[in-house]
Amino acid sequence: MKIKKAIFPVAGLGTRFLPATKAMPKEMLPVVDKPLIQYAVEEALSSGIEQLIFVTGGGKGALENHFDRSFQLEETLRQRKKLEVLREIECLVPESGTIIYTRQSEPLGLGHAIWCARDVVGDEPFAVLLADDLIQSETPVLHQMVKEFDRLRASTVAVIEVPREETSRYGILDADNPADMTFRIKGMVEKPPTEEAPSNLAVIGRYILTPRIFEILGEQGKGAGGEIQLTDAMSQLLTKQPIFGYRFEGTRFDCGDKAGFQMANLAFALEHPEIKDTLSSYIKEKLC
Ligand code: UTP
Repeated sequence: MKIKKAIFPVAGLGTRFLPATKAMPKEMLPVVDKPLIQYAVEEALSSGIEQLIFVTGGGKGALENHFDRSFQLEETLRQRKKLEVLREIECLVPESGTIIYTRQSEPLGLGHAIWCARDVVGDEPFAVLLADDLIQSETPVLHQMVKEFDRLRASTVAVIEVPREETSRYGILDADNPADMTFRIKGMVEKPPTEEAPSNLAVIGRYILTPRIFEILGEQGKGAGGEIQLTDAMSQLLTKQPIFGYRFEGTRFDCGDKAGFQMANLAFALEHPEIKDTLSSYIKEKLC
């Protein structure tokens, strides 16, 4: 079955990025000249996704506006003959009906946010993209994962290796052949302290999941941090269906974190045709 639907959970509070995220959604923070959510949406669309499901919360109106027409702005750009940027702005708006918004009334955790989209997804496998995990790659990571899903016909999660002392920030995996590009997962635990972590393999914000996860999430109690955790539900899913870890091609930046966000800006700016030369001269000057 083709992966046609993607969930974008965007209802979190973004507390690690306060005060910037007090009145602005974290997913609207720009990396160079595009907000994080736009990178995620472009990745999904170029991976064959046809329906974008946003799980939003209070104060997230800017996200909805970003993907909507802005007639006044478009008219002004037209009058000023800024036609290139006008085209860019127009292309941003997906065809009507492509984006569906559902609401998480309280930020009870990522697992809960995904469960909020259960009726929109229905009985088919689907993707989840966390916009604050920005990945620089030649082939969009979700596209790589969709290909793996087509081969495996099972839930697949994107995996990276993290320093041992950082395991308490991630969902961590247990597996028999973790060195393989794609490997079967034996167990997973959310945010384990280093001494209890089964490995240093962490799940990051790209998932392809089977709809069975919704049943489990519906009964899932609170876990680490008092939140309904997707990792706990996937751990249950493992007792019923296989789940695979996938080491993708690309570099991931944790843009929910201040340092990760700055690194992403540097990495993307150094590839950006308009500013890469100015920026690299500036960096050289600063480092000499
Ligand atoms: P994070 O774990 O980064 O949480 O969520 P957060 O609240 O956004 O940020 P911090 O940790 O307080 O700084 C990962 C993704 O899951 C979404 C977030 O919007 C983000 O895209 N999320 C998280 C929800 O949609 N609902 C929630 O209840 C929690």
